[in-house]
Amino acid sequence: MNDYVIDCQNLETAYTASLHRPILNGINCQIQPGEFVVLLGLNGAGKSTLLRSLVGLVPIVRGTIQINGVTMNPRTLTTIRRDIGMLFQGGGLIRQLSAIENVLCGRLGTRTTWQTLWGFGQRDRLLALKLLEEMGLKEQAYQKTAQLSGGQQQRVAIARALIQSPQILLADEPITGLDIIAAQQVMQTLAKLHSQQGMTIISVLHDLGIAAEYAQRAIVLEAGRIIYDGPCHNLQDHFSPS
Ligand SMILES: Nc1ncnc2c1ncn2[C@@H]1O[C@H](COP(=O)(O)OP(=O)(O)O)[C@@H](O)[C@H]1O
Ligand SMILES: [Mg+2]
Repeated sequence: MNDYVIDCQNLETAYTASLHRPILNGINCQIQPGEFVVLLGLNGAGKSTLLRSLVGLVPIVRGTIQINGVTMNPRTLTTIRRDIGMLFQGGGLIRQLSAIENVLCGRLGTRTTWQTLWGFGQRDRLLALKLLEEMGLKEQAYQKTAQLSGGQQQRVAIARALIQSPQILLADEPITGLDIIAAQQVMQTLAKLHSQQGMTIISVLHDLGIAAEYAQRAIVLEAGRIIYDGPCHNLQDHFSPS
């Protein structure tokens, strides 16, 4: 028994079993509680695949994933997903819905069909509002998501991930396409969750400067393998981005 929040051993995943080309190829990595890790690598290196694998969205061909000591398999997936919030690349919000409805969608995984058909309760709505307020979006709660700026949308996505009170937050390119101010706001939000709530964070980023500013540890992927795992400073010496 160890106290890692995430433990991948010889992890190999492929999108289709018949197409025998593993996307992740022998990943070994252990993450301790409360770490802020940045995931780097060129396009197609497997960064998104690794994050998706950690929430059971990519079939495991070989090796194991343990989250809080629980080995991932179809039976444990629901339990595991409760511990992990995910910010998908591109946000993954439903543009036609309001900000608060998008945040409430983060609750769907933990509800029965009947509860969902019945509508969300007052408690969930208040919690969603509180989270939006914490993200500085109280005024925008009932606005259509499509009308919000990129930075505001990303903060709605964070609120959606937080509504199930995860211990671990996976963020796939949370600041790509945002202007500098909006990007800093999003990164500061993640930093606050890390420092004030002790949340374990893994974020895919492309900017080595921002990576070094916020994260302590970097994992660099290349063609589905880890080619660097260590401190964030002097990353330029190990890795030259495109
Ligand atoms: N849904 C998918 N089905 C099949 N192959 C995929 C899928 N998503 C990604 N891939 C392939 O997996 C590899 C890694 O992709 P990805 O994890 O998205 O890389 P990154 O996030 O580092 O840019 C790429 O070769 C990509 O073409
Ligand atoms: Mg990606």
